Amino acid sequence: MKCKKCGQRASVNMPQHNLGLCREHFLEWVPEQTERFIKKYAMFTHEEKILVAVSGGKDSLSLWDILHRLGYRADGLYIALGIDEGVDYSVESQRLAEKFAAERGLTLHVVNVQEQTGKTIPEWAETSLRGRQKPCAVCGLVKRHEMNRIARDLGYDVLATGHNLDDEAAVLFGNTLSWSREYLLRQAPVLPGTPGLARKVKPLCRFYEREMAAYALLRGIEYIYEECPYSAGASSIRYKELLNQLEHDQPGAKLAFYLKFLDARQQGLFSAQEEKQLELHPCPNCGQPTSAPGLCSYCRMVGEFGG
Ligand code: AMP
Ligand code: FES
Ligand code: ZN
Ligand code: ZN
Repeated sequence: MKCKKCGQRASVNMPQHNLGLCREHFLEWVPEQTERFIKKYAMFTHEEKILVAVSGGKDSLSLWDILHRLGYRADGLYIALGIDEGVDYSVESQRLAEKFAAERGLTLHVVNVQEQTGKTIPEWAETSLRGRQKPCAVCGLVKRHEMNRIARDLGYDVLATGHNLDDEAAVLFGNTLSWSREYLLRQAPVLPGTPGLARKVKPLCRFYEREMAAYALLRGIEYIYEECPYSAGASSIRYKELLNQLEHDQPGAKLAFYLKFLDARQQGLFSAQEEKQLELHPCPNCGQPTSAPGLCSYCRMVGEFGG
């Protein structure tokens, strides 16, 4: 395949878009597309302060790199989860996030879960669920809470995460299998902010995972290759494999699945009343919006089991 822009040999072939690009033009195309999605979904403006949640992985570091190249005011947030038994997963991802920031003179906030709550994520999983479950549920809860807290306390307008199309399509697939309207309702490129809660955006939601891997590689971004050791066997990984099989036979299927959901949403898949259910009330302890009656799940967990 040849580069569509200059006719040289393409470095990245994207049958899903019927497009091939050389290194130089691919590295231009990704931020151009990102800017297009940011505008299309009204994610944020150049005047707003953006907090990028960075895990040390390819997607979130690439996102930060792209926003920086596009001239947005974006700082980073790394949450140290303490997942290091035998693997150094958190230590190594923190090192890479810090290195990325230092090399570009960017501001990175680091929050340590153990210092904040008295326990690491694996320890929380042991205590609050008595080892019955993987730490992922607790981890998601704590990460969400900390991202929201830092964004609010430090006055950011927007919280951006590195979820890519493969992530979004896998979640959509899972939510569709169970026809979970409540979860489907919360799946969007932009979740509006409420008092005390920053708007949440996913600027990479239309990029295939392999496009982001190519971007990180061609930009020379050093990122952690390993997945979280607890992610093995997660249903989202099975759904990704299934969707990859489909994509193999039918290039573009993954993107169509996701975009058709967004279209259906716009055309009234959910009633106005359902959309209103998204409204939440503030937790009496931390002030973060919650759908639970009384304390939010985070405060309940830390209150019950915290030291
Ligand atoms: P994951 O749930 O691991 O697929 O991550 C989804 C997104 O959440 C990433 O692209 C990051 O934006 C964010 N994220 C995940 N882990 C962390 C972390 N330890 N610190 C900050 N942000 C994170
Ligand atoms: Fe949280 Fe794996 S990243 S449990
Ligand atoms: Zn070219
Ligand atoms: Zn709370």
